[in-house]
Amino acid sequence: MKENLFTPIQIRSLVLRNRIVMSPMCMYSSEDGFVNDFHITHYGSRAAGGTGLIFTEACAISPEGVISKQDLGIYKDEHVEGLKRIVDICHSFGAKVGIQLAHAGRKALGGRPWDRFDKFGYDDELEIIAPSPIPFANNWKTPKEMTKDDIKSVIEKFVKATQRALKAGFDVIEIHAAHGYLLNEFLSPITNKRTDEYGGTFENRIRLLIEIVEKVRATIPNEMPLFVRISATDHVEGGWSLEDSIALAKILKTKGVDVIDCSSGGIAFGAPPNDYYRAHQIVFSETIKKEANIMTMAVGGITSFDMANEIIKNKRADLVAIGRLFLQEPYLPIKWAMSRNIKIDIPNQYQRGYYLDI
Ligand SMILES: Cc1cc2nc3c(=O)[nH]c(=O)nc-3n(C[C@H](O)[C@H](O)[C@H](O)COP(=O)(O)O)c2cc1C
Repeated sequence: MKENLFTPIQIRSLVLRNRIVMSPMCMYSSEDGFVNDFHITHYGSRAAGGTGLIFTEACAISPEGVISKQDLGIYKDEHVEGLKRIVDICHSFGAKVGIQLAHAGRKALGGRPWDRFDKFGYDDELEIIAPSPIPFANNWKTPKEMTKDDIKSVIEKFVKATQRALKAGFDVIEIHAAHGYLLNEFLSPITNKRTDEYGGTFENRIRLLIEIVEKVRATIPNEMPLFVRISATDHVEGGWSLEDSIALAKILKTKGVDVIDCSSGGIAFGAPPNDYYRAHQIVFSETIKKEANIMTMAVGGITSFDMANEIIKNKRADLVAIGRLFLQEPYLPIKWAMSRNIKIDIPNQYQRGYYLDI
């Protein structure tokens, strides 16, 4: 029988109950990176809703690497306790949990979407860093060009964050190398104008990501899956391309990366796609899966059971990540399964909402 959206999948030793993943989404609700009751409710309810794998929002590996000042963080040992609460609540409902480790580079320290217009973003006290001193847009802060020591320090912070993530009990680590944030800024020739061994050629621009992947892989147990989220293309002429992504994915596979999470864009201000209706990104997960012979996750504008199921059935990706629909509907997997008479575990407390005979 062909696999479908609700067929369990094993990645290394990890078994997911289905192929539905909650995509990492900033919730702009933390103070100094700490988890609070909002996060427990948010992640816990999506786990109760039947999700196979839940990703946390981008968790900052250092204070100046936050996308917004209200991001979750993993730059202090004290963050572990709260993150463990997220893991525990999700596990209690049968979901597995991944953490997205991130540094926002030149796009750091922005505001929350709901007050971005009256309070424009960045915090002047902290310096922002990037491969080259080029601001994201005219009125954005100019980042400091990273020294070799800064690069070394970022690598160490990814390792430290990974060690904390293990303590918190996460099942999966995802390295965020997409959407125009720090690691993406190294990959793309648009943002990386360095003349040392971290800039210039393709081999040099991917060097930082590869070094981080090697260190993270060496830190986590062999049975634990490692994901990398990339922007498969910059959508800009002369920028990072799908061909670059295929070449990168082949190398990442040899370094022990299990899944390429295929998003796109975000490096250049105003470049497409500038809305979120991006079902066209499926072509990236499909092409990278076939060309690099590696598992992929599709994401972006996947808005129905039929779309999601088609992606799995036709082997266009191994996992389907859903973002905004999960903000509308925490019980999306249960809803999709029930609409097709597919068997799914419903938490005992909620069964009477679905079955008449109990
Ligand atoms: C509120 C919000 C926050 C997001 N935060 C992140 C993030 O922290 N990390 C990330 O990789 N992508 C982030 N994204 C992108 C989503 O993970 C996803 O790729 C995108 O929304 C497209 O999927 P969708 O059409 O199912 O929403 C965010 C999207 C939204 C809507």
